[in-house]
Amino acid sequence: SHSGMSLTLPRTIAHRGLSAHAPENTLAAVRAAHAAGCRWVELDVQQLGDGTPVIWHDAGVRRCSNGRGKLRHLDLAQARQLDVGSWFSPAFRHERMATLDEMLALIVEYDMGLNLELKISYRHRPTALVEAVVPRLLAALPPSRLLVSSFDRVALRTARDIESDPHRLHLGLLSDKLTKDWRADVDTLRAYSVHLDWRKLKPAAADAVRSAGLHLLCYTANDPAMFLPRWEWGVEAVISDDPPLFHGHVAGATS
Ligand code: G3P
Ligand code: MG
Repeated sequence: SHSGMSLTLPRTIAHRGLSAHAPENTLAAVRAAHAAGCRWVELDVQQLGDGTPVIWHDAGVRRCSNGRGKLRHLDLAQARQLDVGSWFSPAFRHERMATLDEMLALIVEYDMGLNLELKISYRHRPTALVEAVVPRLLAALPPSRLLVSSFDRVALRTARDIESDPHRLHLGLLSDKLTKDWRADVDTLRAYSVHLDWRKLKPAAADAVRSAGLHLLCYTANDPAMFLPRWEWGVEAVISDDPPLFHGHVAGATS
């Protein structure tokens, strides 16, 4: 059992993999993150029309592939036809959409940590995604290397219903800033962390999160000098497209 292994947050987490240098949310982006010395990645997960969980950010495929249309209108065979790398650079033209299972195998191989964001798209039932994803995560990774986050409270509640022990499944509430109900939400979820937009973060909000005993992460920052005061406010980890930029800009930010 992994139940005794607690989570130690890294200082930096590679957003959608090393998305500054490789096409976001692909195996190539996670290989690039690993090669750059990143120990944790943030990735987004959704379901194809046939239910397959895949690593993808948008509701549609247009921005990050050579195709168009909605993800939920594709089955796995159709999704595999897409070139999901050329939009970024011709060097990635052979890249194909990663299933969650393929991505988990790579993360396990590299011994990396994963912050998986449950991305609930318009018209999707959050419970179906969570029921497809969370058991796979729990089987693949120890609690010390897994942090599941979402903007969607129903998705997080569903995850907590699947694994009720907060030490076996760490949950992070994503929000651009603290809402009126944030404390009730994190208490209900027995959340581990709150993940806020770094540009909107105020010291008082950081204090409130830390005083509540929760861990505080910020997304998505790529300017270490601008970010700097936030470490003093109690931010523990930054989600960045290019984490190596931060190495050397804060004590301990080497991974
Ligand atoms: O998990 C932090 C961040 O990824 C949330 O926003 O749109 O980049 O998924 P987004
Ligand atoms: Mg995300």
